[in-house]
Amino acid sequence: MTFVITTPLYYVNDKPHLGSVYTTIICDTIARYKRLVGEDVIFITGVDEHGLKIQRTASEKGVKPQSHCDEISEIFNNNWKNWDISFDKFIRTSSNNHEFIVNEFYERVKSSEDIYMGVQKGWYCVGCEEFKDNPENSSTYKCPIHQKNLEWKNEENLFFRLSKYQEQIEKIINEPSFIEPVERRNEILNFVAKGLKDFSISRTNVSWGIPVPGYDDHTFYVWFDALLGYVSAITSNSKDVSLKKSINGGWPADIHLIGKDILRFHAVYWPAMLISAGMKVPKKVLGHGFLTREGQKMGKSLGNVLDPDILLSKYGNDPVRWYLIKDISLGNDGDFQDRRFVDIINNDLANTIGNLLNRTSSMSRKWFDNKVPNNTKITIDNVLENFANIAVKNYIDKFENYKLDQAANEVLNLAINTNLYLNDNQPWILIKEENNFPIVQEIIYNVLESTRIIGLLLLPLLPNLSSKINEQLGSIYTKEIPWEKQLKWGLLVSNSSLPKPTPIINKLEYEKHI
Ligand code: MSP
Repeated sequence: MTFVITTPLYYVNDKPHLGSVYTTIICDTIARYKRLVGEDVIFITGVDEHGLKIQRTASEKGVKPQSHCDEISEIFNNNWKNWDISFDKFIRTSSNNHEFIVNEFYERVKSSEDIYMGVQKGWYCVGCEEFKDNPENSSTYKCPIHQKNLEWKNEENLFFRLSKYQEQIEKIINEPSFIEPVERRNEILNFVAKGLKDFSISRTNVSWGIPVPGYDDHTFYVWFDALLGYVSAITSNSKDVSLKKSINGGWPADIHLIGKDILRFHAVYWPAMLISAGMKVPKKVLGHGFLTREGQKMGKSLGNVLDPDILLSKYGNDPVRWYLIKDISLGNDGDFQDRRFVDIINNDLANTIGNLLNRTSSMSRKWFDNKVPNNTKITIDNVLENFANIAVKNYIDKFENYKLDQAANEVLNLAINTNLYLNDNQPWILIKEENNFPIVQEIIYNVLESTRIIGLLLLPLLPNLSSKINEQLGSIYTKEIPWEKQLKWGLLVSNSSLPKPTPIINKLEYEKHI
């Protein structure tokens, strides 16, 4: 089955920030998991290159919008490679293929009689590329997200008949699985209950956009254009482009993972546009929260922006992934705290998982000739086997419901329980008596086997650490056998060689300013 998952298409006004890294890492984790359980995944990311915001950014730099976009798009593309993001498609909305799809889509919407000319008046945030509701209630006329002045617009635009889709949208958003988590769903239910208004889909004052056929000065509104990037991405690499091909290539998307600020576009405007064009709506819109730093909103003016490049080069991929996945419950806001980051990585990854592997592999090599001991199966009720089986079951269940933090905690708990099992059984004391040899074999086998399963469960969460664990256990994971089958207890081969242990994760030092 094809499984399509998307990140938002990021504005190219600046290089990636921690928020974009967060969304992309979460998508990557889900994409990797879905591949492991046998889905044919299309993981889409890319950049949103048109519109007033980008036009202005380029003009402030004194360069042509296209060359600005080329530069920043390249940075995004390379950045995701540096983060080892397993994306399948990278869509640029300034590409010809994309423009072709936008035009084809527009023709469909037009033939549904959903386009008309009207006058658009209102207060606009260029940062959000969005008209704001009721700014007259605000004394500042500022965008609450960007803290920048809104701009008054009054111009002739083409409109899309969103109001016509009131009932259909209500039906879609009432489906509990469509918008998650429930708080996000409630926001949208309230918004739609107020009655949907038509929205403008063209601009006359923005030259950096896709021209609207038949209307000389009009370009498509950047959101109308950008949302279609999810569709054009499917055929982005092919010579032969058409809506039909994209639809056959995997549409609709299974998940749009987005931040809570762009929910309306994805959960209301976008489904209506798709219905109008005779296309299927996405299956799920998953809205995550916002990241703050030490409790404060990150911003250039506050000087507290955390540069993801620095995080990556200083600490590496696994620690940042672990913190973002495990410490933030998907859907809630999250806070990046330097001290907490260091503590979590040292406790969870270095002391609990890293140490477990290191000490068990060392004991096994020392006592059993650099090999995995025999699985003597002396104990009838194997507690560690029971723990592992429950952890695997819960983990799958959490992943299927996109509770990634809870899935990560299942792995950590298994590691904690495995360490406890080792401490309770004290094989280093038992080994002193020759009679105990078979029971020590069993204990060490169990602990190594549990560690193997921990490594496998980490595969979608921390691919690098997972492969290091696998190597230290003699590279037993194989892509030839379904991953889920390899989660079965008892597959570690007795008497197989164990390579010399090397530390799989370094402890971090706390520095005042990351
Ligand atoms: N270009 C649009 C999306 C078009 S999708 C067809 C856009 N781009 S963006 O670059 O401004 O934002 C991309 C994503 O980053 C959004 O989902 C937004 O919620 C997210 N974040 C921006 N700041 C964030 C944090 N501080 N924390 C977490 N995510 C945040 O919107």
